[in-house]
Amino acid sequence: MDRLRYKIAVLGGTGAQGSGLALRLSAAGHAVTLGSRDGGRAQRAAEQLSGRSRTRVSGSENPAAAAGADIVILTVPYSVQRGTVEAVLTELQGKVLVDATAPLMPPKVGTVQLPAGRSAVAAIQQLAGETVRVVSAFQNVSAQHLNELDHEVDCDVLVCGNDRDACDVVIGLCSDIGLRGFFAGPIENSVAAEALTSVLITINRRYKIAGAGIRITGPK
Ligand SMILES: NC(=O)c1ccc[n+]([C@@H]2O[C@H](COP(=O)([O-])OP(=O)(O)OC[C@H]3O[C@@H](n4cnc5c(N)ncnc54)[C@H](OP(=O)(O)O)[C@@H]3O)[C@@H](O)[C@H]2O)c1
Repeated sequence: MDRLRYKIAVLGGTGAQGSGLALRLSAAGHAVTLGSRDGGRAQRAAEQLSGRSRTRVSGSENPAAAAGADIVILTVPYSVQRGTVEAVLTELQGKVLVDATAPLMPPKVGTVQLPAGRSAVAAIQQLAGETVRVVSAFQNVSAQHLNELDHEVDCDVLVCGNDRDACDVVIGLCSDIGLRGFFAGPIENSVAAEALTSVLITINRRYKIAGAGIRITGPK
């Protein structure tokens, strides 16, 4: 069966995680637009990615990118996660929002510091309401590996959300870029993936690993 090709906006796509996901999704054949606070910056970053993925990547301001997409991926620092979503709430209506946010609190990013002990992505589902299908994914996938298109990313993806169909769409995107996505429960369970990010950062530092990942054992 032919794979579905989506129009995907990556908000914060000029950064490390967003550009890595955009690169891989574009190379897999999806129509990707980088979103930014600055349309010119998005276009310049998109030109660079187009050369690397050998597919056309577009760039525009965050609201325009979100407006033109079927699926919106959010890759901005936790400190601006809420404000970035608030600025595009109208454009997100009826869409799938994939939130890769891990609530890191500099300078102690290797220490788990969940806001009020809860999931940062679940808070976005509450903010947006059920007309936006929020899916949590990619918190444990290293940007460095995503950005090296010539090698496979050695990491599984925990996919959490209240809408199973939306989660399945995101698991399909994982598969498109060579990753195994696992449905990992309702959006509140995102807290586990978010906390794991700080654990992985600590492991990277202690064992001098460039981007440790996770594996779910059992399935072949
Ligand atoms: N880096 C990783 O390996 C990794 C792995 C897993 C999960 N994540 C998660 O992915 C998210 C993005 O991480 P990242 O490392 O890609 O972040 P980043 O490179 O520091 O920032 C991503 C983008 O966010 C926008 N941004 C930065 N500061 C902002 C501000 N003050 N106000 C509004 N927008 C701002 C910028 O886009 P514009 O200036 O173009 O608007 C920037 O390019 C984070 O939540 C992180 O926890 C990262």
